[in-house]
Amino acid sequence: MYDRTFWEQLWEKTLREHPDKVAQRPPNAQLIAEIGGLPPGRALDAGCGHGAESLWLAAHGWQVTAVDFSAAALAHGRSTAEAMGIAARIEWIEGDLATWAAEPAHYDLVVSLYVHVAGSVEEMVQRMASAVAPGGTLFMIGHRPVDPATGARTAAAGQVQVSVEEARRALDSSWELVIAEERPRTIAVSGVDAVIRARRIA
Ligand SMILES: C[S@@+](CC[C@H](N)C(=O)[O-])C[C@H]1O[C@@H](n2cnc3c(N)ncnc32)[C@H](O)[C@@H]1O
Repeated sequence: MYDRTFWEQLWEKTLREHPDKVAQRPPNAQLIAEIGGLPPGRALDAGCGHGAESLWLAAHGWQVTAVDFSAAALAHGRSTAEAMGIAARIEWIEGDLATWAAEPAHYDLVVSLYVHVAGSVEEMVQRMASAVAPGGTLFMIGHRPVDPATGARTAAAGQVQVSVEEARRALDSSWELVIAEERPRTIAVSGVDAVIRARRIA
């Protein structure tokens, strides 16, 4: 489950049945709050989906590499970028993050939001981190699948996403952990978000 076929079918269905909702979905508020003040440079959006965050970054001056393994989601992002006149600022890459190798120490910003990890989370965090240039920022959010207030399983139950503990373990002393905390989500009984913002010192 949560493999390429699952996501491709989900994106095809969602884009077919709810194109307006998808088009109107705003970029992630935590990304805007945390990253909005950084000077633009090169950004990687790993697991970009239909590209709301990639589009926002590009519109704010970033040169973006947007990677996802859903062709349907990427096609939507690409056509939106063309309509917005920012196509030259985003390279859309169809790739599986389990195997796709980012250029090492290349990006001023690596973003990965709500992406299910099929293997080791620590290894995934380290791989994303290795793409960040010295002085650059790693920003990850993982949906934690159990609501801490109620103990109820959330919509993300079954998915493995980044946690605060695993991010702490994965990042060594060459990283400053600016934020590593769980934050409540706006939707009730949907669990918490593990929010990780780290700066590569060396
Ligand atoms: C919950 S969506 C999040 C999309 C976007 N980051 C956001 O915050 O709206 C997860 C996305 O990750 C993609 N994805 C999951 N596993 C992946 C993998 N191994 N390689 C590439 N993309 C993957 C899915 O296709 C999907 O678009």
